[in-house]
Amino acid sequence: MKLLAFLACIVQTCLAANSTFINPVLPGWHSDPSCIYHSASATFFCATSTFITFPGIPIYASKDLINWKLISHVWNRESQLPGVVCEYISGGGGGQTLTGLVGVLFRTTDPFDEPEWSDPVVFYPGKIDPDLFWDDDGKLYVATQSVILQELDLATGELSQPPIPLWNGTGGVWPEGPHLYRKDGWYYLLIAEGGTALNHAITISRSRNLKGPYEAYRGNPILTNRKTQEYFQTVGHGDLFQDAKGNWWGMCLATRGGPEWKTYPMGREAVLFPVTWEKDAWPVLQPVRGRMSGWERPPPSRQIPGHGLWSRDPDVYNFTTAGEPIPRNLVYWRVPRPGAITTTAKGLQMIPSRNNVTGQMLPNKPTPELSGQRGMAFTGRRQTDTLFAFSVDLVGFRPTTTGSEAGVTVFLTQLNHVDLGVVLLAGTNGSAALSFRFRTEATIPGPPQAAIPVPTAWKGETIRFQVSTPNATHYELSASLASDPTASKMIFGTAWAGLVSGATGPFTGVLLGVYATCNGAGSGEECLNGGDKAYWQRWRYAGEGQEVAMGVVV
Ligand SMILES: *[C@@H]1O[C@H](CO)[C@@H](O)[C@H](O)[C@H]1NC(C)=O
Ligand SMILES: *[C@@H]1O[C@H](CO)[C@@H](O)[C@H](O)[C@H]1NC(C)=O
Ligand SMILES: *[C@@H]1O[C@H](CO)[C@@H](O)[C@H](O)[C@H]1NC(C)=O
Ligand SMILES: *[C@@H]1O[C@H](CO)[C@@H](O)[C@H](O)[C@H]1NC(C)=O
Ligand SMILES: *[C@@H]1O[C@H](CO)[C@@H](O)[C@H](O)[C@H]1NC(C)=O
Ligand SMILES: *[C@@H]1O[C@H](CO)[C@@H](O)[C@H](O)[C@H]1NC(C)=O
Repeated sequence: MKLLAFLACIVQTCLAANSTFINPVLPGWHSDPSCIYHSASATFFCATSTFITFPGIPIYASKDLINWKLISHVWNRESQLPGVVCEYISGGGGGQTLTGLVGVLFRTTDPFDEPEWSDPVVFYPGKIDPDLFWDDDGKLYVATQSVILQELDLATGELSQPPIPLWNGTGGVWPEGPHLYRKDGWYYLLIAEGGTALNHAITISRSRNLKGPYEAYRGNPILTNRKTQEYFQTVGHGDLFQDAKGNWWGMCLATRGGPEWKTYPMGREAVLFPVTWEKDAWPVLQPVRGRMSGWERPPPSRQIPGHGLWSRDPDVYNFTTAGEPIPRNLVYWRVPRPGAITTTAKGLQMIPSRNNVTGQMLPNKPTPELSGQRGMAFTGRRQTDTLFAFSVDLVGFRPTTTGSEAGVTVFLTQLNHVDLGVVLLAGTNGSAALSFRFRTEATIPGPPQAAIPVPTAWKGETIRFQVSTPNATHYELSASLASDPTASKMIFGTAWAGLVSGATGPFTGVLLGVYATCNGAGSGEECLNGGDKAYWQRWRYAGEGQEVAMGVVV
């Protein structure tokens, strides 16, 4: 036996070249990763949380744990979840209102084919973070926050009562994000606790019986960066899985903000770490850093079927073909109004919403619409790089209604965003003038807001909007004539990334995108005469650097 173990060591560990990689492997806002390895297709799959963005629950697939392809969204049509979009709201004060928590279980036999995702089986767990666990006898259980266990009837959504309390964790707030594993005759219960901020951690317990009692590991937490100087903070809420060789890995969320935790616009990103888990022993999770090394990984491969986008490829979208599908990595804030954002031969067409990006339509209606309202004309992609260049062309915008506006936004939530648009403003002499307007909406006062008339030579021309990053902590918003982008470039503002870090969006991360609004002109949901449409073309996003340790950009 000893010799065999030694040989296994030679084959698996001693000689196999360990691999190195860079975190986050799924950069940009990708919180609460839940991952599995599907051995029949030799593919890793991960799902992440998306809160009120639509489409929701992206599914990523990978052969090598580094190249991840966005293969589908589970929630991809409003009919799957009519009207339940806004039930989980975090107010500006950080207080949470949870109402009518609905568990939804979607099924598919082909995650590569988006429409194949079913309508949900609805259940009422009363707690967040449901996790499915099939026991050896085939029974299906769902474990949720707190941590409690209930048997779930897949056909009806019925949950067994009363819930069985499994484990309270080690004393941190919000024991949540549970995952159960069956190994070596044990039931292991892995959870997140301490809240999803600087105290976040992963802890573990185990039992010989599914229903407990669970014994906590004395070495808890088994993964955390709390009370460290690490650049990667808030490490927690993870999931473990095995590769084809039987080596264990984990994915969890982390925030790149250092212990000061002031600028982290990408929010909670998904990171990978190797795990050593010997028979009958507690798993050892490698601490999360930007530069990692661990088990040999499957060779790099992009052999993933289906339509989809590789998460770290640049965006090169021209938007010049009518009816072409809108790229999968562009998301909306809630479900958009039908027909509001479509592809036409003139570009990505946006019918403006009466609400602006803050969700306001009238100055005398000071409270932003935070729930229930649809139809904010906005779409964006995740900021996935510390340094990047994003640009998009606004084609032939000649608004006729005062208040009509189209522009780009660095968007965390309706209450935390930085915008540069062109807007038709009423002049003092009664005629309206098209102006550039740079604005910030944030908890902390932003830079001064300015309206600058659009140069006469630019009127009716294609205007290129740009968002770039002079450094890791600031955005620069500029515009130029698309026909002469360098010489005509005008910088309208810089904004600190702290304006779009945490605050009202502790669960989200920055989306870079475009919007169109008539700033209230009109009635009901409609802008006056349907509004001045905006047409977008030549959408480009490219990463230019990732900060992987304090001040270290690769
Ligand atoms: C969790 O804590 C509560 C309150 O202290 C206690 O009553 C309960 O028994 C604990 N549950 C478990 C599973 O330890
Ligand atoms: C390879 O990585 C695994 C997992 O992190 C670790 O346990 C092992 O010690 C590493 N081997 C070498 C030779 O560094
Ligand atoms: C997009 O436009 C660029 C520049 O006009 C062109 O080179 C490229 O071929 C176009 N791409 C597609 C997919 O149409
Ligand atoms: C949104 O609209 C409201 C009401 O007109 C206005 O007060 C606010 O400044 C606007 N916000 C932005 C960012 O444009
Ligand atoms: C009215 O004001 C706008 C700027 O607000 C200016 O562009 C325009 O020339 C003015 N028109 C007249 C007739 O003075
Ligand atoms: C980052 O860029 C901004 C805007 O250009 C500038 O104000 C700030 O000082 C820069 N920060 C550093 C550390 O260079």
